[in-house]
Amino acid sequence: MHIRDERSERLTERVVAYALERIHQPMDPRWGARPAPELARELTGAICADGIGGDAALALFDEVLLPACRPMDNAMDLAYVPTAPSDASMLFDMVVSVSAIFAGTWEAGAGAIAAENQALQWLAGLAGYPVGAGGCFVSGGSSGNLSALVTARHRARTRRTGPPPARWKFAATAQVHSSVRAAARVMDVDIVSVQADELGRMTGAALAEALASDADGLDGLFAVCATLGTTNVGAVDDFDGIADVCQTYGLWLHIDGAYGGAVLCAPSVAPLLKGFERSDSFGVDPHKWLFAPYDCAALLYRDPSIASDAHAQHGEYLDMVDRGEWNPADFAYHLSRRARGLPLWFSLATYGTSAYTAAVEQTLTTARAFAEAIRERPESFTLLLDPSLSVVVFECNGWDLERYRSWTISRAKEGLALIVPTTWNSRPCYRVCLVNPVTTASALTDLLDDMAQWNPQGG
Ligand SMILES: Cc1ncc(COP(=O)(O)O)c(C=O)c1O
Repeated sequence: MHIRDERSERLTERVVAYALERIHQPMDPRWGARPAPELARELTGAICADGIGGDAALALFDEVLLPACRPMDNAMDLAYVPTAPSDASMLFDMVVSVSAIFAGTWEAGAGAIAAENQALQWLAGLAGYPVGAGGCFVSGGSSGNLSALVTARHRARTRRTGPPPARWKFAATAQVHSSVRAAARVMDVDIVSVQADELGRMTGAALAEALASDADGLDGLFAVCATLGTTNVGAVDDFDGIADVCQTYGLWLHIDGAYGGAVLCAPSVAPLLKGFERSDSFGVDPHKWLFAPYDCAALLYRDPSIASDAHAQHGEYLDMVDRGEWNPADFAYHLSRRARGLPLWFSLATYGTSAYTAAVEQTLTTARAFAEAIRERPESFTLLLDPSLSVVVFECNGWDLERYRSWTISRAKEGLALIVPTTWNSRPCYRVCLVNPVTTASALTDLLDDMAQWNPQGG
């Protein structure tokens, strides 16, 4: 297994050639999940004492397993939050995989961490964070939110002089991503609910009102979790107003920008970001809208020393070596980690930050043009919100949920597009989430024509 010989050389060539083929031949949009028993049958015997050999395993992956996965980077995959990794980032992900870098500690991964930090500093600079800000890359927005909120509670704990509160809690609206609620469950803390406004945003006024009227009082309140780009509708919270309230109450402000944080590099939405720089931490997932492959999420702190106080792991074998200057393991709940920020760094270095700005702006322009096309067809569609970012939500007039679902299934099966319904104000509607600069407004408008003429019986 660890011996390099002719056979292993041949396998290397086969697998690398296959990876390149994958880049040049995008996955078929009709591909998708198959029932588990079917896949289990197909996999029978693949893991056995003598192995089936690389060629057979690769054929199984190519012919059976990959076609049972949905192509998330297809330009017409508009559901959930898709992905659109650049060629450079995907290729470099392979390099990261074959480099066996332990990127948890400086001592082991200094070169890789220095480059990751350069990418993090680009994001910190865009956010308006001060010199000294920093963080690390984690696996996803969920892990980023949990790690930031743990840090926020740690600060509150260490500042506290009296006995512990009856319950620790942070404030958030119902529009936050499910991972924020999951973090509260993992941490066993409560959420003080703040009413979102009609656009789905948290405002400073609503936050102040929620805190003033919280029946259990503010003891134990340690943070506010705001969002740059809510998953359902792309709403952007009122960071400046929220930061005022956080300042008054001494609360940590964490901003979940897992999806929308990409617009930090997009000047056209800068006015929406006023006050972002006053936050204590934020996350943004390059695997969503900053053109990196899974799994890559950036987590940044204004004062990373609080995070390392909260998260650094200690142990006999760990503490015997000088871990060095910057240990990504210290800033989140993890220890061993791949240098998952390197594909982003390589892509930024390859194409330049202007290419990132152009690609994100292109997506925003497409979203605005699509919203306009919906507005121009009032007989068939109702635009529910002006898109703040690149999520467009609209109703097909007169459709019930069943009809939304059947159009979705029919067009997904044909490989035309994947759009999944959601609800807004308790009514079913469509939600289109754009992260791919290759998606065109005209392809989206064609979908509107298709929906307008669609007959569920006749297809
Ligand atoms: C706003 C927001 N936060 C957090 C997450 C969770 O990110 P991940 O799936 O990378 O854990 C998502 C995922 O879509 C999101 O949109």
